[in-house]
Amino acid sequence: MSTSNNNNNNNNYKVWFITGVTGGSGSGLASRLLELGHKVAGTSRNKDKLNSTDLIKNNNFLGLQVDLANESNVKNSIEETIKKFGRIDVIVNNAGQSIFGSVEEITDKEQRLLMDVLYFGPCNVIRSVLPHFRERKTGLIFNISSVFGGSGCDSCSNVPFFSGYCAGKAAIHTMTECLREEVKPFDIKVCSIILGYLKTSFSNPLTINQIKDYNLKEKANEIMKMFQRNNPEQPINFANFVIENSKLSNLPPTIHFGKNPYHSNSNSQTKPSYPHQKLKAHQDAPKQFEKDIPDLPELTDGNIHMPYILHE
Ligand SMILES: NC(=O)c1ccc[n+]([C@@H]2O[C@H](COP(=O)([O-])OP(=O)(O)OC[C@H]3O[C@@H](n4cnc5c(N)ncnc54)[C@H](OP(=O)(O)O)[C@@H]3O)[C@@H](O)[C@H]2O)c1
Repeated sequence: MSTSNNNNNNNNYKVWFITGVTGGSGSGLASRLLELGHKVAGTSRNKDKLNSTDLIKNNNFLGLQVDLANESNVKNSIEETIKKFGRIDVIVNNAGQSIFGSVEEITDKEQRLLMDVLYFGPCNVIRSVLPHFRERKTGLIFNISSVFGGSGCDSCSNVPFFSGYCAGKAAIHTMTECLREEVKPFDIKVCSIILGYLKTSFSNPLTINQIKDYNLKEKANEIMKMFQRNNPEQPINFANFVIENSKLSNLPPTIHFGKNPYHSNSNSQTKPSYPHQKLKAHQDAPKQFEKDIPDLPELTDGNIHMPYILHE
């Protein structure tokens, strides 16, 4: 996919602000938007990482080094975006990561780091952009939750060793539902995306505090093998899905994309749902990867990665 500046004149362009554009879903969405002639501001914690992306070559892209946990940092990035592009139309709270470990093992610092990126960061973004949206009486906020976000997300809530991640995703989903009602009077739209298995470089580092009794590496291997029996969706299909949904005047409170790769018991639901029927590519995409499922790599670096790596 080309992200170079192609002077694509789109008079109906929108200005998107996306957190975490160096990873699979954020980068896929930003690339697709630029291709369609939209303007995109994208964040990363790391300037070098941002500069190594193709996005940076496009004049319609603004790369922002942001610590999402730092409110004034986030506020400045929103202001910088408005200064460059004149406005913001759509926010996508996309940045995220997980840490693999039991509730007893994951440290206080790790739990807080997860909440920072999965919940407090998005709150900072929303708090910073809402004055702008309220003033303009328009705006759209997509918050990315997960099929691991618990019963509120109509999915399984009992994924062992993922508690911090599941709790963070449940938190953002619940916050999104409240926010939607609060900003309705200002014609601001809010939507929770319940995301399933996507082919990205999503990382699940193991907790630094492993307790022998839990056998964490073995458990991690078992769960990752279970994931590997499922087919992930492609970020490009996700990007098209989000863009199509952003155009809906009656956007539902919650939209689902991709399957739940965890099936531990009969209560766990697989809820692949593709509300946007036009995007038939979703249904077709997984088939083409059936033969590509690699063996689970040995855990040598203490990190568990989703089996599919986009940027390598
Ligand atoms: N992949 C899946 O199967 C899947 C399933 C359900 C939901 N999701 C959700 O989809 C979103 C995108 O994930 P992805 O799959 O595209 O993963 P990814 O390829 O690992 O990308 C993650 C992005 O988030 C940023 N990020 C990670 N940790 C961060 C932190 N502590 N603070 C600030 N930014 C951080 C990274 O930016 P920098 O490192 O450059 O700062 C990167 O751009 C996440 O919210 C994830 O939870 C993914």
